[in-house]
Amino acid sequence: MDKLFIFDTTLRDGEQVPGCQLNTIEKIQVAKALETLGVDVIEAGFPISSPGDFNSVVEISKAVTWPTICALTRGVQKDIDVAADALKFAKNKRIHTGIGTSEFHIKYKFNSTQDEILERAVAAVKYAKKYVEDVEFYCEDAGRTDNVYLARVVEAVIKAGATVVNIPDTTGYCLPWQYGEKIKFLMENVNGVHNAVLSTHCHNDLGMATANTISGVLNGARQVEVTINGIGERAGNTSLEEVAMILKCHKGMDIDTNINTQKIYPISRMVSSLMNMPVQPNKAIVGRNAFAHSSGIHQDGVLKNRESYEIMDPTDVGIDKNSIVLTARSGRAALKHRLSVLGVEVENGKLDEIYEAFLKLADKKKDINDDDVLVLAGMERTEKQRIKLDYLQVTSGIGVKAVASVGLLIAGEKFEAAATGNGPVDAAIKALKKIINRTMTLQEFTIQSMSKGSDDMGKVHMQVEHAGVVYYGFGANTDIVAASVEAYVNAINQFVK
Ligand code: KIV
Ligand code: ZN
Repeated sequence: MDKLFIFDTTLRDGEQVPGCQLNTIEKIQVAKALETLGVDVIEAGFPISSPGDFNSVVEISKAVTWPTICALTRGVQKDIDVAADALKFAKNKRIHTGIGTSEFHIKYKFNSTQDEILERAVAAVKYAKKYVEDVEFYCEDAGRTDNVYLARVVEAVIKAGATVVNIPDTTGYCLPWQYGEKIKFLMENVNGVHNAVLSTHCHNDLGMATANTISGVLNGARQVEVTINGIGERAGNTSLEEVAMILKCHKGMDIDTNINTQKIYPISRMVSSLMNMPVQPNKAIVGRNAFAHSSGIHQDGVLKNRESYEIMDPTDVGIDKNSIVLTARSGRAALKHRLSVLGVEVENGKLDEIYEAFLKLADKKKDINDDDVLVLAGMERTEKQRIKLDYLQVTSGIGVKAVASVGLLIAGEKFEAAATGNGPVDAAIKALKKIINRTMTLQEFTIQSMSKGSDDMGKVHMQVEHAGVVYYGFGANTDIVAASVEAYVNAINQFVK
């Protein structure tokens, strides 16, 4: 079987998404889970972009043992210097440098020419080679780059020492056959192509990311750039779980990866929870409904023989339908075990805090599921907020106006306000606004239940606009009005300093 290298960019392309930013500790948690999952390369960040990104690359390099740690740069010396510095502790390191090669990029972004861009590409690779042996070069917007020119660039950067050449469909424009032909053209027309690995990096703007990636692999690419849950710029990137399971289900492709597919579901939940990015219920492989059969005919068929309607066994992706459900009678050890299965390692002090919150939640709802556990584990993020929700009281119903009184603690000082509204959330937010007194508009507001049951936790995602910038907020509570107010408070904490 041919080996396909899995390059995960959840912590770079995925983390670029507004509202998905993680702190260094959270990034290390994801990186370690990616290592356990079996990815070959972790793109840990874009070090020159911020001190936070630089530091994350340093710390991930220390924390992770065998996957290659990769740092992104533009094709400029300063970026490469900083990336090399950030990678100094990595056991296996790679610099990922590159430049736009499409007519759009050359003409409008760089006001340059094809020859000049080719020279800059070669210079960037040679410069990165001074620091590391493993240099990946990306031809940004390769999806819309003329194949003949693209082949010239790929040939030149391989000659300059690139070990991997990335062919990104940056705008998600290609159709599967077009992307496949592009890779085939390069495989057939680039001298020395076998001295490097061609990589796919497909965005999902037309919903083609996975199909394009597979088409690239069928035509010779041997590295795929992917993210957990398919998160990434705009409509996202190719999702790791889809590629891994396609290769597992279609053994005839004769291509293998290092991925331990049973770790897919826990890491999907972890990334969704840490990034506050819900997974759509019908998302392939990891969506809540991915293995749920609702029609009577399907249920009957599955009961007679699972394979009548299922091409994958849910346990192959780590969905354990028989996993022990935690209840108010579960002890610390059971909670610690569940956290560890979900990739969260906690020390005893922190475990005590989570356990206390767990008991409070278990008082309100009977069964505590994995999502609940992950929310509890992430609670300290809101506990450190400068503005905290102290109390909330609402009265609402049919035929009466909703009234809310809200108490906030701002840097320890108490503030209170009351307001009426056309529903309990509206009233509570109006009361909040009286205290905060800034111009802000609620742009998006979604409520999602975590599993089922009227005692379930509701997860609320909000986007609040202030001074032209959109801030993301998240809240989770068995009371959805409280979850909504928590999400609003979480968003305003990011701009009211
Ligand atoms: O989509 C893209 O082109 C990228 C490159 C920076 C690799 O993310
Ligand atoms: Zn990208």
